[in-house]
Amino acid sequence: MDLTPRVFSGMQPTGSLHLGNYLGAMLQWIEMQKTHECIYCVVDMHAITLWQEPSELVSATRQVTAAYIAAGLDPKKSILFNQSQVPEHAELAWVFNCVARLGWLNRMTQFKDKAGKDREAASVGLYAYPNLMAADILAYRATHVPVGDDQKQHLELARDIAQKFNNDFKPQIEAAGFADGVFFPQPEPVITGPATRVMSLRDGTKKMSKSDPSDLSRINLTDDADSIAKKIQKAKTDPDGIPSDAGGLAGRPEAENLVGIYAALAGKSRDAVLAEFGGSQFSGFKKALAELAVDRLQPLGDEIRRLTSSPTEIDAVLADGSARAHAIAKPVMNKVKDIVGFLRS
Ligand code: TYM
Repeated sequence: MDLTPRVFSGMQPTGSLHLGNYLGAMLQWIEMQKTHECIYCVVDMHAITLWQEPSELVSATRQVTAAYIAAGLDPKKSILFNQSQVPEHAELAWVFNCVARLGWLNRMTQFKDKAGKDREAASVGLYAYPNLMAADILAYRATHVPVGDDQKQHLELARDIAQKFNNDFKPQIEAAGFADGVFFPQPEPVITGPATRVMSLRDGTKKMSKSDPSDLSRINLTDDADSIAKKIQKAKTDPDGIPSDAGGLAGRPEAENLVGIYAALAGKSRDAVLAEFGGSQFSGFKKALAELAVDRLQPLGDEIRRLTSSPTEIDAVLADGSARAHAIAKPVMNKVKDIVGFLRS
């Protein structure tokens, strides 16, 4: 059981994916597919930490899978599957519930944001969410995790869990044949690219999110050309135009966000975008950005719609991916059982 480089990441099927998911994570997933063994998950078990209408969860799971494929993830090369079809995620998460400390979870800012003021009413699952995320990654002993900036704290927790497990069970891990006492790797966050934090189009200080009540705040991957153009045109800006260097973006979150989005979509650096548009008014820049966004996203949206119209094909991809994922996770979980002291037949 060698520790080979392996990539794991996931997205929640809680409605349509948006530009933040695409630029912040998916572009990196596609890149890493060229060089690594990759496992990409639709995390339906994470989704139900907040209430999901069951029929909508089914269609969102298929739609996110369709978006993975439409964006360029190859289901033959990489493993694409939904979390609930591989029972080891839940099994390992329970072990991690007993490894992670309350104090660690109490520090998670995303729980505080999502639970809001009435914390007593939040589900236990929402609180234990990061332990399940650690289980997702470590059930495959994955070494690299490409994500957007907002997942950084959860990944630090996954590293802490891996380390505590290795320490707590050191003698058993060594007895199981891991001479260096390392059973779980320290998974490395891969947070790179020009748009690791895409912000809301209505408020440059808030991240673009599926849960924002205003649909104008985000560009969904399934938006049509008119909505994309309208949302960019209505995006909040400030009275100054586009500066010619990065210093001119300081303290201007909306301008910085739009320039970052342009750079990510065009595959250019921010400096190159500023060199091209420096001195322009927002009206002209927004027009160019809308054209670029429609150009890049419309074919993606069309392909997502085409794929979702044949659910049996998507379900077959998920069934195949789940079987391949299970084949990796099961022996890992068996070792965990031996290490922890669970009898198995
Ligand atoms: P989720 O579903 O919220 O988001 C999926 C991915 O998109 C990134 N992202 C963004 N990146 C830049 N700007 C934004 N505005 C933006 N919004 C979202 C996220 O960082 C993420 O990479 N807990 C995870 C899912 C998960 C997971 C895992 C990830 C479950 N298990 C194991 C990695 C490894 C989540 O809720 O992502």
